[in-house]
Amino acid sequence: MRRIHLVVAARPNFMKIAPLWHAFSRHHEFEPTIVHTGQHYDYHMSTQFFEDLKLPAPTINLEAGSGSHATQTAAVLVAYERYLLDNRPDLVVVPGDVNSTLACALASAKLNIPVAHLEAGLRSRDMSMPEEINRILTDSMSSILWTPSQDASDNLVREGTDPQRISLVGNCMIDSLYKLLPVIESRQTWKQFDLPQDRYILATLHRPGNVDDPKILSTIVKALERISREIAVILPLHPRTREQLQKQGLLDNLDSMQNIFMIAPLGYVDFLSLVHKSHLVITDSGGLQEETTVLGIPCLTVRPNTERPITCTAGTNRLVSAQEIENAVLDELDSARPAPCPPAYWDGHTADRILADLDHRFQNPLGRV
Ligand code: UD1
Repeated sequence: MRRIHLVVAARPNFMKIAPLWHAFSRHHEFEPTIVHTGQHYDYHMSTQFFEDLKLPAPTINLEAGSGSHATQTAAVLVAYERYLLDNRPDLVVVPGDVNSTLACALASAKLNIPVAHLEAGLRSRDMSMPEEINRILTDSMSSILWTPSQDASDNLVREGTDPQRISLVGNCMIDSLYKLLPVIESRQTWKQFDLPQDRYILATLHRPGNVDDPKILSTIVKALERISREIAVILPLHPRTREQLQKQGLLDNLDSMQNIFMIAPLGYVDFLSLVHKSHLVITDSGGLQEETTVLGIPCLTVRPNTERPITCTAGTNRLVSAQEIENAVLDELDSARPAPCPPAYWDGHTADRILADLDHRFQNPLGRV
């Protein structure tokens, strides 16, 4: 029996780990344990995702909570090491690039427990992003690097990584999307806003680079206000964004706009239901660039770079600055919807490939775990 820890921490992790949990649970030779670091803790940021994705409650919640980068990373590091000392697994799987990803990889590597990084090899080449630091350090400590696309594998090889550590498996988050697509399609969350389908924009913003900078935040808010004269905007608010809007005195005005629907963060199915029937998405999220590519929804990403360039070269994504949002939206309002164009291996079978890869690595003396 191989004991596997599946680490989850923040909103974008749950849909990446869920397919692995379901796949491991079907195989007698694996014993998966869900370890929640507690980085995200509100019902709408965590528990609702467990319900939507049919995940059991985590076996352990480390309750690390919020704080500065050092405080949060250190809290997870200390708490997870303590847990590992009493509950040593054969492998720790860490997804994505949040602070808990790095902390859990570090705690495991220092105890000589093999780490598998799910979503390895992504690079924005922007070290001002905390996530880029987390990605590079986590990859450097991981025995197994499961990459979502060829460009990610190429990044790792270029950095001198032993190719034996790398397996191109595809995009696990897209497994969740395909599995729940019938539920997402039947949910019709957009109807709650009394809007016709395909005639609204869905906007989500939470990156410190956008929302913690008063000038950029105000430029984005003004753009959304002008856009809302042409088309309705639904704006689920991340707690960080709500706090910054309030601090800058922008919240009440935005809330009073007739064609802007400011709402609480949504669960997975409700959110994807809104994405699926939107005309266009404006975001600074990582995962949403990928989900819109697979669904064929135009996506404007308010960032100077992306660690997911395949969504621009093969998909529906386009990078814009805060100043460019309004014109980019006007361009898109007149354009026909692009065809969905999922990259190779974004096909709903990534968890199966991961299990096959692990089987090989555990059995083959040359395959490293
Ligand atoms: C984190 C990740 C980011 C990811 C995002 C998804 C890092 C460095 N950042 O950013 O990569 O895209 O999650 O949402 O790990 N808060 C709540 N309730 C919660 C969680 C947070 O109110 O359940 C508030 C707290 O005030 C907290 C703030 O949101 O201080 C930020 O949370 P944090 O987890 O530190 O970073 P995110 O901005 O969510």
